[in-house]
Formats: sequence, structure tokens, C-alpha cells
Amino acid sequence: MAGKFDYLPEKLRQQIAHTALQLVTPGKGILATDDLPDSIDQRFSGLGIVPGQESRRVYRQLLFTAPGIEKYVSGAILYDETAHFKTDDGIPFPEYLLSKGILPGIQADRGLVELHGIAGETLTQGLDDLLVRSQNYYRMGIRFAKWRAAFNITENTPSTLAIEENAKTLARYALLSQQAGLVPIVEPDVSIQGTFNLARCQKVMEEVWAATFKALNDHHVHLEAVILKTNMVLPGRACNEKVSTERAAIATVWALSRTVPPALAGVGFLSGGQTEEESSVNLNAINQAPGPKPWALTFCFGRALQESAQKVWASNQADIASAQDIFIKRCEANSLASLGKYVPGSIPSFA
Ligand code: 13P
Repeated sequence: MAGKFDYLPEKLRQQIAHTALQLVTPGKGILATDDLPDSIDQRFSGLGIVPGQESRRVYRQLLFTAPGIEKYVSGAILYDETAHFKTDDGIPFPEYLLSKGILPGIQADRGLVELHGIAGETLTQGLDDLLVRSQNYYRMGIRFAKWRAAFNITENTPSTLAIEENAKTLARYALLSQQAGLVPIVEPDVSIQGTFNLARCQKVMEEVWAATFKALNDHHVHLEAVILKTNMVLPGRACNEKVSTERAAIATVWALSRTVPPALAGVGFLSGGQTEEESSVNLNAINQAPGPKPWALTFCFGRALQESAQKVWASNQADIASAQDIFIKRCEANSLASLGKYVPGSIPSFA
């Protein structure tokens, strides 16, 4: 028998549910630009771009100021450093994004620590001061947050312990974010690397999502103000058994419909190492797949929105407009895919 408890205050619940619905506006998705400074610097170095803070600022500005971005992008996830950057005109990025009708979000977790004794498994840290950090972010104009739990599929993983502990941590984070007025993006990210087949990925995802939503419910998280960010159900990159796009899309929809309550505000998929075109084609197939889909199924892509743009920018950093142009094309492709209207190959990718 459940004990006595109180939900979050009604006004707060309404406010965050409204924010969540804005994030999943039909035809729009989320731009993930929350790579750690070291990761983006490494990518820049590989492309011949001088790494460093100013390159990172100019590159983010290129994306956020791309003409027409607001037609396709409802929110942008920032890393703490990016949330403190300003445009050339001195406007803080969160303020600039809000002025365009794009909600600024924040990567709230503080990375992974080893779950001792289980090879390769991890927990995500950052809960201790999360409420205060989230309240500060809210004051800066941030309206949503993201927290990533990472899993790998091998013969013995993910373990029940890793699934359950990560689910509880995601739920604690989600509640603290909501208390501060932020919509939590809850991200159980199962890596695409491995030899597992489609059926194994589907089963793992059903277990991970079921545990995550049980924990969210146990913690009295307001589900109407939560976005699930997760991987698509796909065979591992090194699996010999190839499956059609349609079959993988059906597996994703089935697994979601078996484990994710209709009350959830929406689902934003990560691209997880798929190419730009693959990500768009797979998202499109998911939206075309038969089966119950009571939530928006959209994009929350990092690499799959930016790879071409980074390459084009690297080839001539003075030519901001060409990089913006290819970036907007990927935004448009994924906007169409989120509606099940993308024609594969119809929008070019340079990646
Ligand atoms: P991608 O896998 O789409 O690059 O996104 C990574 C991510 O989770 C950033 O928030």
C-alpha cells in the first residue's frame, strides 16, 4: 500500500508541463550541443580547426544564429561553459536563444563513475548540489536539463544492479530538476557498439525503460513534464545479422509501447554514432511504423545535426553562411523525419 505523499505544487506542474510540450512541438526537435570542451576540441583538432574557448564560442554561435533554426529546433542543450558564453553583441546565449523562441537547456550531470565490481558499468554523478545548481540555471533562463546514464550491451551487461541504480539516480535528478522549474530530459543511453542482435537490443531497452519509469513513478516525478532521450532499438554495429530499417523501427515502437506510459511528454532520440542520413532515415521509419505512439517521437541529436556543418566550417572558417546552410538542411531533414515525411536521400549530407 502506498504511503502518504504530496505531488509538486499544481502551478509548478502546469508550468513545467507547458515547457515540455513546447520542446515536443510537432515538427521540431532538440539540438544537443553539450559536448564537453575537451571532446569538441578533439573534434576540432581532427578537422584542422584551432581548438580553444573562442573557437567553441564562435562555433556555437554559428549554430544558434543560423537563419531559420527556430522553425525546426525547439530547444538546445548547453554545457555549463556554453551557457555562460555571449554572442558577438554581448547577449548571453540562453537569453539569445529565448529571444528566438528556442528553449535553452543544460547538461546537469557530472559524468560517469565506475560501478565497482562490474566490468565496464557506470553510475552518473552530480546529485549532491543539483537543486542549487538547477535553481541558478533557472535564473539564467535555462528551462530544461539533461542527465545521461550509460549502458553497454555484452553477454553479461547491463546488469540488474546497473539498470536499477541508474534508474533511481535518473529519478532523483528528474525530481530535483522539476523542483527547480526545469523539465528533465531523462537519458538512458545504450551504446550501439557491440555484436548484439536486434532482439537482444529490444529486450535490453524494454528492461531499461521499464525500470526507469518505475523509478520515476516511485519518486512521484510529474511524468507530463519529462522527456525521454534514448537510443533507437538497433542491432549492434558489429552484428552480422542485418535487419531492414522498417523492422528496426517496429522494434523501437513495440519496446516503447510496452514500457513507456502515455503520460510522458515525448521522446527525443539520440543519434549515438549513426551517420546523419541514417539517423534521419531511422527516425522517419519510426514515425511511419505501425503501432501505438501516444507521444511525440522526435530528434535530440548531437553529432547527426552537426557533422556536415563542422566539416564545411573547417574547410573555410570565414564562410559562416555555408556551414549554417548545411546545418539548417539537416535540421529540416530531421523535422520532416519527426513527422514521418522525410524522403531518404532527398536532403544532402556531407558527413
Ligand atoms: P548524439 O548521440 O546524437 O551525438 O548525442 C549525444 C548526446 O547525448 C548529447 O546530448
